[in-house]
Amino acid sequence: MEVVIVPDAQAGGEVIAEAMVALLRRKPDALLGVATGSTPLPVYQALTAKVGAGAVDAGRARICQLDEYVGLPAGHPESYRSVVLREVVEPLGLDQASFMGPNGSADDIPAACVAYDRALTEAGGVDLQLLGIGTDGHIGFNEPCSSLASRTRIKTLTEQTRIDNARFFDGDIDQVPHHVITQGIGTILEARHVVLLATGEGKAEAVAQTVEGPVSALVPASALQLHPHATVVVDEAAAAKLKLADYFRATFAAKPEWQGL
Ligand code: PGA
Repeated sequence: MEVVIVPDAQAGGEVIAEAMVALLRRKPDALLGVATGSTPLPVYQALTAKVGAGAVDAGRARICQLDEYVGLPAGHPESYRSVVLREVVEPLGLDQASFMGPNGSADDIPAACVAYDRALTEAGGVDLQLLGIGTDGHIGFNEPCSSLASRTRIKTLTEQTRIDNARFFDGDIDQVPHHVITQGIGTILEARHVVLLATGEGKAEAVAQTVEGPVSALVPASALQLHPHATVVVDEAAAAKLKLADYFRATFAAKPEWQGL
């Protein structure tokens, strides 16, 4: 995988938004897989600014969700559908028809999981999947010991993830759902390009294990080592535990511009 070390979260957002712009120039109806949480917000802000400035026409872009809480009432402001509409779909001026996600309030959750996994394939597959990483190494909501071959399915959140996400629910862990639907690791690995963004010292250990540790279900993000085109963008704080940081810096500095991310 390629590791790109940037000075700060803003710069990470810029670099990834630039890759999205390049993709949309190449393929105007690209399917962009988006992540939620705090980390990706600078990407969406940078992409919105670039589109607003006329860098690319994003009018035919398609957006898909990575995961969703189970059981939040439809329209709950912290459902990931609401978050993606608010942070990505509306700022880019896209209509809801260009947006797909799993139905976390379905009566039949297993069927909703299978339907979403199939819908991604039928849509032609994800062109670029943006990921954050949990402090426990999760991608999507594939918690430690998720099958590396997993498909979209229901998962139970760890206590740590519920603690991490309580800030979106007035700091009240009891409001954080226990269950989620997440694209599986096998599903994520089918995206043509996977881009993981991690910022802040709290992610440094998970990043080091993802990039330089063994491929292990204990660190779900380490499965990205098996992907032919995976890019890990980290700020200096999240890069702090990488042994090969200098090599990664030199590689990116010498990278031919035509190559993009
Ligand atoms: P965060 O979440 O960006 O809010 O830290 C990352 C994740 O859980 O994937």
